[in-house]
Amino acid sequence: MERVEDIRTELGSRDWEAMTAHEAIVWGHERFGGQMVFASSFSLEDVALIDMACAAGIKPRVFYLDTGVLFPETYELIGRIAERYGIAPERVLPQLTLDEQAQVHGEKLWLREPDRCCGIRKVQPLRRYLAGQDAWVTGIHRDQSPTRAGAPRVTYDEGFSLVKLNPIVDWTTEDVHSYIAERGVPYNPMHDQGYPSIGCMPCTRAVRPGEDPRSGRWAGFQKTECGLHGR
Ligand code: ADX
Ligand code: SF4
Repeated sequence: MERVEDIRTELGSRDWEAMTAHEAIVWGHERFGGQMVFASSFSLEDVALIDMACAAGIKPRVFYLDTGVLFPETYELIGRIAERYGIAPERVLPQLTLDEQAQVHGEKLWLREPDRCCGIRKVQPLRRYLAGQDAWVTGIHRDQSPTRAGAPRVTYDEGFSLVKLNPIVDWTTEDVHSYIAERGVPYNPMHDQGYPSIGCMPCTRAVRPGEDPRSGRWAGFQKTECGLHGR
């Protein structure tokens, strides 16, 4: 891996705002090849990115943080996406099984200390996995939440020490829906049942029309981020 200073300088010399999502993915592929990985929770955004990469002739290296408590619909979608695009998403596991976590920290840690639970089941596994990579791609976009309003398209991720690409950072939720519909991309049927944002089962609920789309995540807690993208 090159010096961090050199990477920062290189990233600072380009006008990422003028780029399209497609161009950002192609740039990342040419720059990092197989050392660029796509983080996927198989959200609408993530399946759109997988479709976009494949349409550009890139076979994306997709990984997912399998907390062990994802929805059955999510696991089912992973199989459909794998088949449709001819990819084999990498399953990234926490060091503790759910039983071990219950023994060490008590049952249903997510009800008492969701930050600790996300740390064990998402952030630590992500940190270990990303340590071997040069760049990661995510589906975040600015209109998702105030904490993401200032997100750049490409940046050096100081938290995880590698380049981070957010190709669709300037897309609206409507843009994402249009892309999925136009391209006929397979998606999680729960999105049509009141779940705009889908994470782990214990920490995701349906939202009513007009409610903040992210209010269905960690309802009842101040928490709005799991630690993958800052707080
Ligand atoms: S979270 O921080 O609240 O969980 P969100 O569900 O909005 O994040 O997803 C934002 C982006 O984070 C996704 O587009 C995806 O790139 C990445 N991501 C979220 N959850 C996972 C997961 N379980 N595995 C891999 N990547 C994920
Ligand atoms: Fe645990 Fe909930 Fe975080 Fe999933 S979203 S890792 S269940 S606290």
